Amino acid sequence: MDLLNDLKKIEKKAEKELKEVADLDKLEEIRIKYLGKKGKIQSVFSQMGKINAEQRPVVGKEANILKGKIENWLGKHKEKLEKKAAEARFKEEKIDVTLPGAEVKSGREHPLTLITEELEEVFIGLGFTIAEGPEVESEYYNFEALNIPEHHPARDLQDTLYIDDNYLLRTHTSPVQVRTMQSQEPPVRIIAPGRVYRSDELDASHSPIFHQAEGLVVDEDISFSDLKGTIELIVEALFGKNREVRFRPSYFPFTEPSAEVDVSCIVCGGEGCPLCSRTGWLEIMGAGMVHPNVLEMSGYDKDKYSGFAFGIGLDRLALLKYGIDDIRVLYENDQRFLHQF
Ligand code: DAH
Repeated sequence: MDLLNDLKKIEKKAEKELKEVADLDKLEEIRIKYLGKKGKIQSVFSQMGKINAEQRPVVGKEANILKGKIENWLGKHKEKLEKKAAEARFKEEKIDVTLPGAEVKSGREHPLTLITEELEEVFIGLGFTIAEGPEVESEYYNFEALNIPEHHPARDLQDTLYIDDNYLLRTHTSPVQVRTMQSQEPPVRIIAPGRVYRSDELDASHSPIFHQAEGLVVDEDISFSDLKGTIELIVEALFGKNREVRFRPSYFPFTEPSAEVDVSCIVCGGEGCPLCSRTGWLEIMGAGMVHPNVLEMSGYDKDKYSGFAFGIGLDRLALLKYGIDDIRVLYENDQRFLHQF
């Protein structure tokens, strides 16, 4: 038995294995293999009883030296491997603080919100209050109470989205007229902006969802000239002093007489251009004197009170005001569009 020779072999092997070690796990394996309780150095110590007494201190000393040597190598390797691992991690985790940051986009007011608020502002200045009604409306309020009886052609004209036999998505804001009159005594001065629905195909000028603002004024001695004066004020506030206003006779079941209101074209000023289909005029609302039947059905004394009403298409107003030529952009929420306002 030549334990000294064994120690030499162990040293050579350990040195070689350590050179090839590439990661910390493997290093730990090697530590256990050589320095562990059942390791190679320990096995030399355990065999010392079998050699003669003079040899023991020599072998013991050499074994301890080798143990120290291996510990030393392991320590150095560990340091190196740890440094390498840290460098790799730093490389992976590195952030370039000079890179531009991710932009946080802030919201803007939608053009429809802007136009609605502007309109509300003007009407509040005239002493109106803001009213609201449900978007899911009963047939009664959407048609019946507005003097549009069953089988009346207007019910077909307004391509209605029905929910069931009695309920529908309101096709206009006019039902708010009736709801308001039912809930308060005259005088009434309200403006009711909101969403309305029709089963129209989506194209550049139609959307199944759009927006209207309903106006209603009821008091004693309200006349058509009050309607005209109010509309003229509104047009001036929204489009400036240079616009002309024209009332065209029309028909709505809930007003008598009824009119459609045009403003001189904001692009050509009246000469005729593609926007106004060469007519020089742009239609912006329907209006009229509240039909006596509507007053009566709402519980008002039709002999004592009279009133006017109007319905403004807000999408069209926004398109005109901001020079937009396609209604669809109002509903697509494209940031590039919305950020222009
Ligand atoms: N409700 C009508 C529509 O959607 C618009 C309208 C016309 C409203 C005349 C009115 C009015 O208040 O007087 O087509």
